[in-house]
Amino acid sequence: MTRVAQYPIEPMFLHRWSPRAMNGQPLSEESLWRLFEAAHWAPSGGNSQSWRFVYAVAGEPEFASLFDLLVDGNKIWCERAGALLVVLSQSVLDNGRANATHAFDAGAAWMSLALQGSSMGLVVHGMAGFDAERARVTLGVPDNFAVNIMIAVGHPGRVEDLPEKLQAREQPSLRRPVSELAFKGRFPR
Ligand SMILES: Cc1cc2nc3c(=O)[nH]c(=O)nc-3n(C[C@H](O)[C@H](O)[C@H](O)COP(=O)(O)O)c2cc1C
Repeated sequence: MTRVAQYPIEPMFLHRWSPRAMNGQPLSEESLWRLFEAAHWAPSGGNSQSWRFVYAVAGEPEFASLFDLLVDGNKIWCERAGALLVVLSQSVLDNGRANATHAFDAGAAWMSLALQGSSMGLVVHGMAGFDAERARVTLGVPDNFAVNIMIAVGHPGRVEDLPEKLQAREQPSLRRPVSELAFKGRFPR
């Protein structure tokens, strides 16, 4: 499947996708911090920068606890991840007020991280398939932070090492036409 943009855009938007084939090589701290650097330039409501990341590098002790939070369908390919991340966001600000944009802001940060990783030739794959409540306990997340998604990051690996079912899905997906998602003036009936 080839991704084609109907309107001219920067190639990075088409090049980013969510592979699962990784080679198990641990991600360097240098690479990880380049990803966090990109993430933290994201815009946020009131510049609250409410995103936080908890990470674990493959081969290090914390990796097993983060890996253990994943559903089996994600464990099967994440065993070759170079690092696992959990994305948190501050839902209640230090002044006690609710932060209405925390998840939206963390979403922007995740996309910046994904685009940076993709431009570095890394696999970056977001996952909702994990136990968020258990993550809260395991990682010691305070009550005023939300647990949003996990992210697998890694060096690209061989598609043949994936289970057959996933091999077939190991390609960039397409999108519905852009004309179906933006409406002038009001929502269509
Ligand atoms: C919030 C979020 C949750 C996701 N959860 C999972 C998941 O648990 N397991 C998985 O294999 N992929 C997961 N994905 C990957 C999506 O399926 C993928 O982004 C989508 O199909 C579009 O494909 P692309 O990222 O290759 O463009 C998730 C992506 C996002 C953004």
